[in-house]
Amino acid sequence: MPNDYDFEKESLDELAGKVQKLLNESGFGSDSFNSESYSDSLDLKSYSGSLDSKFNSDKFSDTEGSIGLDSIDFQSIESDSGSAYGIVTVGVEKLEINDYGASIVGFISSEKRSLIRLGSYISVPYFDDESLFGKISKIEYRQEYFSDDATEIHSNRVIFGSGINRTNEFDYKFLIYIEPICILYKNKDGVLQRRMADRIPKPNSPIYPVSDKAMIQTGLNIPSAGVFLGHLSVGGETVKTNNVPPTVPYYLRNDYSIGDPLIFRHVLVCGSTGTGKTFLTKNILRQFMEEDNTYPLRKDKSIKKKPCLVIMDPQDEYCQMIEDNELLDSHKKFNFDSENISYGGFKDTFTFLTKVSGQEYTGRSKAVQKSFTIPFSYIKSNPWIMETAELSEPQKLGLEKLIEDYFEYERKINGIPKYKSFKEFVENPVRKQGYVEEGKIHESSYDAILRKVLISDFDKFFDQSAQPIEEIFESVFKPGQISVFPTEYISSPRIRDLIVLTIMSIIVDNKLSTSGNETIKDTPVILALDEAHRYLSKDGGSVQSERIIHKFAEAVKQGRKEGLGLFLITQDPQDIQPEILKQVNTKIILNLNNDAAINSVKVPKEYEKKIPYLKKGQMIIYSPDNSDIVEITGLSDCVVNHK
Ligand SMILES: Nc1ncnc2c1ncn2[C@@H]1O[C@H](COP(=O)(O)OP(=O)(O)OP(=O)(O)O)[C@@H](O)[C@H]1O
Ligand SMILES: [Mg+2]
Repeated sequence: MPNDYDFEKESLDELAGKVQKLLNESGFGSDSFNSESYSDSLDLKSYSGSLDSKFNSDKFSDTEGSIGLDSIDFQSIESDSGSAYGIVTVGVEKLEINDYGASIVGFISSEKRSLIRLGSYISVPYFDDESLFGKISKIEYRQEYFSDDATEIHSNRVIFGSGINRTNEFDYKFLIYIEPICILYKNKDGVLQRRMADRIPKPNSPIYPVSDKAMIQTGLNIPSAGVFLGHLSVGGETVKTNNVPPTVPYYLRNDYSIGDPLIFRHVLVCGSTGTGKTFLTKNILRQFMEEDNTYPLRKDKSIKKKPCLVIMDPQDEYCQMIEDNELLDSHKKFNFDSENISYGGFKDTFTFLTKVSGQEYTGRSKAVQKSFTIPFSYIKSNPWIMETAELSEPQKLGLEKLIEDYFEYERKINGIPKYKSFKEFVENPVRKQGYVEEGKIHESSYDAILRKVLISDFDKFFDQSAQPIEEIFESVFKPGQISVFPTEYISSPRIRDLIVLTIMSIIVDNKLSTSGNETIKDTPVILALDEAHRYLSKDGGSVQSERIIHKFAEAVKQGRKEGLGLFLITQDPQDIQPEILKQVNTKIILNLNNDAAINSVKVPKEYEKKIPYLKKGQMIIYSPDNSDIVEITGLSDCVVNHK
């Protein structure tokens, strides 16, 4: 038996038919049958009044009818979820869940329509202890009654008519398509859990906005503790809940509950220039230096150590991690405290300066500064550091031969290997002739080595009057310390690169080798590499030989075991060696505006589309072992100084 509402709608349809007939007979045709005249003639006010009373959820739950939901108390089922947006329907599309997806269409009541956003999270109760958690994947208007609004007359009326309500919501169905994410249920201990969406909601079930923090965190599989990255958001708007504070924090897992902390499976921050990479990186890295953050040693799990954060800093920005952000007021600090966000200058921050003749550091570091030099002897086991990518393969082999012979020569004469004497060794014309005549190195290769490798900059770099790097390992790789290596004060790009490559290789060598330095082996190291694409570029990059890439790729794979976490920062993710990119488990994507960069991060299509529209502070987090892919907004303040 039809209920009140059906009856009313039937009468309206009948009436609408009569009006249409009249209009046709009087020669106006269907194009004049537009929403305004319709709404005038049908007195939609009274219609809307009657619909309102039928569609508000209180009444709806009381309504008797074929749906059989009369005994259900929606308020108690979803008391935390605010009032319903609308209902699940079957009138427009079939209601279906299958192995490949779902078709769940919701009708949205007119007063809620302006709240609906693509990507918003919703829940639909199953009227037992479970509910469907999903997101809005499509929004659509459809005509409620037939009228042709694509006509000249109609358009002119709307454009030139005065006082016309352009869209009368009752003339349209407003539909949302729901993409199920999971089913939320409570286990026997009353803890909220999620599982695959394997059941279908009933027709006419209410659709609620999700306003409970735990539901959202469980629904999206976001850890409830860890390293704070930002607040969950949709289309740039932070998701608000009924909790205090209302925001939903997004944490990166930093414990051993399911595998290793995710920092040891590496993190990438990418975004075009000026999109806030450094600001965000400081905010994230500061979290790892929180007082209680320790990681057990591989060789003895009972020993736990704080991480050492090593930062390669091309723009002299990270030394500011020692300074407070003076703009943080007590209200902001209160909010940080309530979400376990660490803030404030980190006092154990040190600046390590490579001594380069003629170059003085006059940067902004307020941290203690320590100088060091890289002795040429380091090249013995790492000859590839001298190789630039512009060397051809025979030239590289020639250089390695010369380096090997030089160190052997020094050993025989009990000499101390120095760059200066290596240079004399190679430049010696008699020696050159010998190599060429014996066919060890082709003359043109020898000349290329002289030209490309023995550049004057190296004289100012190797073996300077400062402590050799290996003597200060203990003060660089110290648990609970931030060690910053600024390079901006050095004018030669080749030397800047050499410093970064040397530090990278020192860490990697010692972490990977069984005979590596104990201090480095036993310290969890987070290596933050700004401009990462320069040092880890695809074959054919301009800075380094492929050798370091492969070595690094190996280290990246072993990172978990060895306590080495990479934190890569770049504006050109497409230039990073794919082998390395593949190992990066957490991708933090800020605004990127070039297709190659966007394609390289390999996020699902619906998120790919959002990337060029992300505003400052907005980002996509793609970290499959942490949570579902989500959009978040970072803090609008830097937790340390960033100027
Ligand atoms: N979430 C944010 N809220 C407010 N301001 C921000 C935010 N992120 C960055 N900024 C500001 O935007 C500017 C650029 O930020 P930042 O230096 O971090 O960009 P970047 O991506 O590292 O740039 P570059 O490519 O030059 O290294 C800075 O002035 C910074 O203070
Ligand atoms: Mg930057």
